[in-house]
Amino acid sequence: MTFKIADRVKNLAGSPTVSVMDRARRLAAAGRSIVDLSGGDPDFPTAPHVTEAAVAALHEGFTHYTPSRGIPELLQAISRKLAVENGIRYDPGKEIIVMPGGKQALFVAAQALLNPGDEVILFEPCWVSYAPCAELAGARAVYVPMHVDTTAEDLRADLARALTPRTRLIIVNTPNNPTGQVWTAGQLQAVADAALAHDIWVLADEIYERLIYDGRQHISIAGLPGMWERTLTLNGLSKSHAMTGWRLGYIAGPAQLIGELLKVHQHSTTCASSFVQRAAVAALKGPQDYTEMMVRRYQARRDALVAALNTIPGVRCDAPQGAFYAFPHIAAAGLSSMQFTERLLEAEGVAVTPGGAFGAAGEGHVRLSYANSDEMLREGTARIQRFVVELRAAPASM
Ligand SMILES: Cc1ncc(COP(=O)(O)O)c(C=O)c1O
Repeated sequence: MTFKIADRVKNLAGSPTVSVMDRARRLAAAGRSIVDLSGGDPDFPTAPHVTEAAVAALHEGFTHYTPSRGIPELLQAISRKLAVENGIRYDPGKEIIVMPGGKQALFVAAQALLNPGDEVILFEPCWVSYAPCAELAGARAVYVPMHVDTTAEDLRADLARALTPRTRLIIVNTPNNPTGQVWTAGQLQAVADAALAHDIWVLADEIYERLIYDGRQHISIAGLPGMWERTLTLNGLSKSHAMTGWRLGYIAGPAQLIGELLKVHQHSTTCASSFVQRAAVAALKGPQDYTEMMVRRYQARRDALVAALNTIPGVRCDAPQGAFYAFPHIAAAGLSSMQFTERLLEAEGVAVTPGGAFGAAGEGHVRLSYANSDEMLREGTARIQRFVVELRAAPASM
C-alpha cells in the first residue's frame, strides 16, 4: 500500500535525547563499556514509602479508572503543595489535572491553546519537546536567546522583537533544562509584563523546581501580580521524587482553561494510572527528606563534575544553578556539538547530548546529566579528557 502519513508527523524529528539514550543502550547491549550521561533520569531509586503505597493500592485492587482529573486525595495534596511551596492557590476540584507525566501535560496544553499559524515564544537553549509539541498543534516556535547574564532589560528588548500578533503562548522553564539557569524575579517580571501587555498565555514548566543549589529561590511566575489568570503551571514527580518511570505529572491553571485541557485529556488518556496516583499522594504528603538528600548529593556531584570539566583543555563550564545537567562549552575542540557527541560515543563510549539539540543558542555545548553515580561521573570525565586531549593532538585522525 502507499505509505501516506500526516505531514505534521512526517516533518517532525524524533527526540534527540531519547535517540542518544537508545544508541547508548544498544552499544551497551552489544558489550561496549558505556558511560551514559545523556538522560535526565535520577539514578536514585524511588523512596520506599512511595513504592509501598503503590503496592498496597495494587493489593487492595485499586486498579481501575479514576476520576479524569485525578483522585481527590492527590488533587488536594497538589493544591496544598502549590499553596505552601509556590504561593499559588488552585481549587483541587476545578483547577488541577493529574496526567501521566509533565510531557503529556505540555502536549495537552499545546493542543488546547494553539491554532495553526500561532507562534510560541521559547527561550533557548530549551528542552527538546517544546517546539515539537507546538508544531503538532500546527503552531511554530519563535526563539529568544537566554543566558545567565541576560538582564531583564535584554529580555524586554528581545521579547519586543519576537512578539507578533500571532504570538499565543510563552513557555518559561525554571530551573532550565539544559543550562540549569534559575530565573530571577526581574527576568520573570519581564515575561509577565510582555504577557500582560499583549494578552498572551504563559506556560511555566517547573519540573526541576526542587533541584536548586546555593540557596537560590524558585519563583512561580503565576504568583506575580496579574499572572495567575493567564498562567498554566506544569510540574510532576519525575525529577523531584525520582519517579520518571511512574509517569506522573500535573498542570494547574484557571478553571475555565483547565476545563478546555480536560477535554483533550479525557479523549487521549482518560486518567493517570490509579495506583501511581496513590504513590504520588505518599510522595507529596510523606517526609521530604529523601528529596533533600538527593539535592545535597546532586550539589556535591555538580561541584566535582564542574571542577573536573574545567581541567580539560579547551572546555569551559559554569556551575549550573539548578536541575541536574552541566552544559560545558566545547567549541574549542573544533567540532560541532553533534560531531563531538558522535565521536565521543564512538571513541570512548561516553553518551552526552549535543547542545545544538536544544536550539541554535546551545551549539558549541554538550549536556551531561549528573543524575548519575559519582563513579560514573569520574569515569565519564576521565574519558572525555582523554578524548579531547587526543583530538587536540591529532584532529584529523579522529
Ligand atoms: C524541562 C522538562 N520539562 C518536562 C519534562 C517532563 O518530564 P515527565 O514527563 O517525566 O514528567 C522534562 C523531562 O525531561 C523536562 O526536562
